[in-house]
Amino acid sequence: MNILLVYAQPEHTSVTRHLVDIAVEVFTGQGHQVEQSDLYGMEWKAVFDGDDFPERVNPARLSFIDESRHAFHHGCQTPDVSEEQRKVLAADAVIMLFPLWWFGMPAIMKGWIERVWAYGLAYGYQGKGNAHRYGEGAFAGKRALLAVSVGGPEQDYSPRGINGPLEQLLFPVTHGTLFYTGMEVLPTFAVYGSGRIDTDAMAQTEARWRQRLNAMFVEEPIAFRRQNSGDYPDSHVLADHVSPGLSGMAAHIAGR
Ligand SMILES: Cc1cc2nc3c(=O)[nH]c(=O)nc-3n(C[C@H](O)[C@H](O)[C@H](O)COP(=O)(O)O)c2cc1C
Repeated sequence: MNILLVYAQPEHTSVTRHLVDIAVEVFTGQGHQVEQSDLYGMEWKAVFDGDDFPERVNPARLSFIDESRHAFHHGCQTPDVSEEQRKVLAADAVIMLFPLWWFGMPAIMKGWIERVWAYGLAYGYQGKGNAHRYGEGAFAGKRALLAVSVGGPEQDYSPRGINGPLEQLLFPVTHGTLFYTGMEVLPTFAVYGSGRIDTDAMAQTEARWRQRLNAMFVEEPIAFRRQNSGDYPDSHVLADHVSPGLSGMAAHIAGR
């Protein structure tokens, strides 16, 4: 299998990089191919801007969607973006590892998504607007996993915790960014209290992480509802009989 590790933490002694090192060791030990996108190490350009489109279809007005569509279809994306798309397309699984910064991913990783998730590929797939999204698309058949180091304690992220549950905070990434493109998304791996983690806690974390890595290709993904499964008759809103009485994010996960 091909596994792509995308990570956003330049410090080698960080929890995030420790998780990266273990993942490389486990997967290469199992004979898998591992590719890495070390975003800080690559000096990844985080900002999506006009420089992403060297050959503008409309020089008079910058429409990101129109230019993304044009660049993707006409082979005039920047080489760094094409290379990351190649890595994602070649991967059977994509693992994104990052410290939680302001309840989301660091800006450099958000910029990786904004620039690499091109129109015609990650959205507007096959030029058919929203016809193929949420469970279908160019990245269907791939697995995805977030591995997040979190400064706060687990209780702050518990069902009634003050910060809100981590899986709900990350819904825009797991559902809106990864499942949107067709990927099967596994439950997030979290390391809480990561700022003051002692040796014992790190050993336990490492054991939990190895278990998750070993289960990468057999674990049940989050049961996000698919747009074209019949649950969304007009492709926009859930049918009344689906997740009755539920609204918001929970309604889009089966079995809730
Ligand atoms: C800019 C910034 C924002 C942060 N935001 C959060 C946050 O929203 N929630 C939280 O629990 N910890 C937050 N933290 C703490 C980090 O999550 C913590 O430092 C990190 O998980 C440590 O892991 P690392 O060694 O992999 O960097 C933040 C830290 C920084 C520097």
